[in-house]
Formats: sequence, structure tokens, C-alpha cells
Amino acid sequence: MGRLADRVVLITGAGRGIGRGSARALAKEGADIAIAEIDPVTTKDAAREVETLGRRAVAMPGDIASREFCEEAVRRTVAELGRLDILIHNAATTAGMKSFEEFTDDEFMRTFDVNAMAAFRLMRAASPHLRASPAGRVINFASAAGTAGNARQFDYAAAKESVRAMTRVAAREFAKDGVTVNTICPFADSEGVRENIDESVIAMMRKSVPLGRLGDCETDIGRAVVFLASDDASFVTSNTLWLDGGGGSTRG
Ligand SMILES: NC(=O)c1ccc[n+]([C@@H]2O[C@H](COP(=O)([O-])OP(=O)(O)OC[C@H]3O[C@@H](n4cnc5c(N)ncnc54)[C@H](O)[C@@H]3O)[C@@H](O)[C@H]2O)c1
Repeated sequence: MGRLADRVVLITGAGRGIGRGSARALAKEGADIAIAEIDPVTTKDAAREVETLGRRAVAMPGDIASREFCEEAVRRTVAELGRLDILIHNAATTAGMKSFEEFTDDEFMRTFDVNAMAAFRLMRAASPHLRASPAGRVINFASAAGTAGNARQFDYAAAKESVRAMTRVAAREFAKDGVTVNTICPFADSEGVRENIDESVIAMMRKSVPLGRLGDCETDIGRAVVFLASDDASFVTSNTLWLDGGGGSTRG
């Protein structure tokens, strides 16, 4: 029996990267998993992988920036997997790196919708199911870009720090029903990092990490997601967990 036997997870952005690694780690611990992901091909791949690990999966391709899709994702999770115990908002986007004067309203709002509004909409829609669960859990993803105030990451930093604030408020409001709400700030070797950052910069970043490497999406980040999702973390709430190999200079 795994640590998450028969728990049901809804995770966003699990087509690749940290979300995919987390889905794998959660499935290996016995969770059934609904995947809300914008890329229809990777959504199906990830769902198939969960099934090959012996768990049930629901593939839900769609854009998490939409309120209707957030609500539909929760509805389908419960309809097809019977319950919802663990909500993980991992999907993210950014309009790219530039000075704050260069962002248009539409670019800023798109980043805010995917990263922050989706966290709100998903928690709101999932609330009755999480409160009814014997061990309701919310895990949101934020970033050191926000806590450090990285130049040229205005939209992303603003949205991610909003997620941390929502996490703290929701943690208090969910507490009476035993639902925990935490944020993870990761540093991991994902497709997203490889796509957006040059190898030479990644090498420099690696050197700045005391443990000397970027995290592995499954074994370093996914396993910590399993911990937060499990009964072992029932007294952990309103926290930010830094999964960054000790790169503490960027913590807020
Ligand atoms: N990798 C890191 O070092 C790092 C550092 C700081 C924060 N983070 C955060 O960790 C999380 C995972 O990061 P990652 O590096 O694995 O990212 P990634 O880019 O590799 O994967 C993100 C996934 O989200 C999906 N997605 C994007 N927009 C979506 C939308 N509108 N609707 C549904 N799905 C959508 C993508 O298709 C992709 O599968 C993100 O929240 C990211 O901001 C990662």
C-alpha cells in the first residue's frame, strides 16, 4: 500500500517538467490522478503513464486561464474519480523577460490568469470536496523570481507572490476542516527551464546551488510533493517549502 492509496489528485500542467514528475511520484504512492494541461498530446501521454503505473487517470486538455475550465476540471475529477483530496496548481506561464514598462495589460493579465487566478478559481471550486476529504491538501507552485524580485520578470514575479499570499489566507480559512495549503518554490531541471534559459546560464545557476545541481522533477520535487500530500504533513500548513538545493539567497 502506498502512502496515498486511493487518494485522488487534480494537478495542472502535468504534461511535462515538475508536474509530470510529481504525477509519476504520486501515482507510485497509489494516487489516482486527473491532469489539466494545455498541451493535448502531453496530457494524454501523462495520463497513459499514470495508468501504466497501475492507477486511474483522467486526461483533461484545456487552458487553465479560463474560469470555465478550472470549474470543469474539478467537476470532471469528482465525476470520474469519485472524490478530490489533493489539488496541485503547478501550471505556469510568463510573457518573457523585459523591463516592467514594456509589459502590456494583456500580457500581464494572461500571466496573472494562468498562475494566480487559476489558483483562486481551482481552490474555490475544489473547496467543498477538499473540506469533505479526511486529508484535504492544496499545493501551489511559486518562484524565487517573486521572492527575490528578479529584474525583467515583473509579470511572473507578481503573479507568483500573489499565489503565496493566497496560500497563507486559504490555509487559515481551510484549517478548521483539516485542509492544509502550502506553496513550493522549486529549482529543477525541467523542460521549461531548458527552453527558456541558455545552457551557459544554467551552468552558472548550478554553481550557485550549495548542493551543486538542479533538482530532479520526480525524485527531488515530486517526492516532496508526495510528503506534503501525505498524512505525514498533516501539521504543515501556510508554509513555503524551498526545494532549491540550499540556494537561500533568494528566499523571502
Ligand atoms: N523549474 C524550475 O526551476 C522552477 C523555478 C521556479 C518556479 N517553478 C514553478 O514550478 C512549476 C513547474 O515548472 P516547470 O519548470 O516544470 O515548467 P514547465 O514549463 O516545464 O511545465 C509547465 C507545464 O504547464 C503547462 N501549462 C502552461 N500553461 C498552461 C495553461 N494555461 N493551462 C494548462 N497548462 C499549462 C505546460 O504545457 C507545461 O506542461 C511552475 O509553476 C513554475 O513557475 C519552476
